[in-house]
Amino acid sequence: MRIIVLDNDTDFEGWRKASRRLALNDVKPSEIAWTVRRDDELSSASCANELPDTPQAQFNVSAKFVELAKAAILHRSDARFALLYRLLWRLRSHHDLLSATDDPDVAEVHAMARAVYCDIDRMHAHLRFREIGRERTAHYVAWFEPEHRIVELAAPFFAGRFADMPWSILSPDVCAHWDGHAISITPGVAKSEVPSEDRLEEAWRRHDNGFSNPARLKVMEMPQAYWRNLPEDSIIKPLIEDAMRMTSGAFIARKAIEPQRQDHPMARKQVQDKQAHDTHDAIAALRAEAADCRACPLWKDATQTVFGEGPQGATLMLVGEQPGDKEDLAGHPFVGPAGQMLDRALEEAGIDRARVYITNAVKHFKFVPRGKIRLHQKPGTAEIRACRPWYVRELAAIRPQLVVALGATAAQSVLGKITPVNKNRGHLIDHDGTKVLITVHPSYLLRLPDEKAKALEYQRFIDDLKIAADQLRDSAHAA
Ligand code: URA
Repeated sequence: MRIIVLDNDTDFEGWRKASRRLALNDVKPSEIAWTVRRDDELSSASCANELPDTPQAQFNVSAKFVELAKAAILHRSDARFALLYRLLWRLRSHHDLLSATDDPDVAEVHAMARAVYCDIDRMHAHLRFREIGRERTAHYVAWFEPEHRIVELAAPFFAGRFADMPWSILSPDVCAHWDGHAISITPGVAKSEVPSEDRLEEAWRRHDNGFSNPARLKVMEMPQAYWRNLPEDSIIKPLIEDAMRMTSGAFIARKAIEPQRQDHPMARKQVQDKQAHDTHDAIAALRAEAADCRACPLWKDATQTVFGEGPQGATLMLVGEQPGDKEDLAGHPFVGPAGQMLDRALEEAGIDRARVYITNAVKHFKFVPRGKIRLHQKPGTAEIRACRPWYVRELAAIRPQLVVALGATAAQSVLGKITPVNKNRGHLIDHDGTKVLITVHPSYLLRLPDEKAKALEYQRFIDDLKIAADQLRDSAHAA
């Protein structure tokens, strides 16, 4: 029996290197025991003598297997390394093995990868950062207990979403810290130790990124299932409870649902119904909260906050720039001339507006008065940034399959940075796990003076929307 010791529980590269050498030397799966080095053991290099020399032969596996293995290795099952090696071993002579869905190994690896992806989705949807404190330089902290070892893989999503704020996600496996430039990973913290202010301070000091001042402590909002279990003597627990009471952001946390078994179709349906209901509630709560938004001065002159609208379970999210004159008065997005043009284009692209969640990057109307007219003003970066958390929270609540950004302001909000429309329009962009399509804003089409150019540009706009329609159809078929 060969004992292969990997560096850590998610050591994909170590597993890959070892597996390659073992398979090339015809070492049978039954002859290998996989284990992970514990802190008091020497590096896995010390175990390299368990591995045979690498022969010259070539050995390739499909990208599909690599992708599957990278996900499955994050599963908490102790059997994962052996299962992956068994698959690798069998793939040498059975290239289509992964398509054999009734094969027990294949079914198991798919189930593991699915469980991991679900856990990542759950973390993306339910982890909430909360600011408590009054320092100028905010710090945000989250405590999260994932079912699988997903924190490293899930963390870049939050770096994209919350690029402007330094945060730490603490978990029992590892902690991820974002300083505005890069994510660093430190060892996990035990639940019994977390979270006390001292402990958080220590975690920050350990990765020493310059925001370790305990006076800057900000605490997150976390799913109730987790925060209610915190030790009674935790300094943070009452802060969180207060914060949860005070804001409707708490509503989303309250709605956090525990992982549920979805094996039975009836159970799956019930979960889907519950999720749809939760989404609806979450958006209603966000809308109520945003009604009093004072994050930038635009609220002073606007009639009201115009929040996003759309059905529960919308698979497509459209993001515009900001409400115009009509929207400001009506309180609904895209009901004026740009909205009419959008409706027409959506219909021609085969997209039913009634099934789309529609929102704006900036949720108050920015204008200058000119006599009786209120003249639209393009929102600036400060306003886009101030309003972005609403978009981020809408995205987390709706979790669409695709986001279409209409124009430069929307693209800046959706991608978190200035993004030229013409250079980036018309193809799918993967932004931290969210598929994004950029196209022009319908108002741009309305403003074009030349009829021929207008017709051409309108057709291009429809072509872009058709890419969205195709993408939604493809993912519906794949589901
Ligand atoms: N333009 C937008 O970007 N959004 C609206 O809601 C209306 C016009």
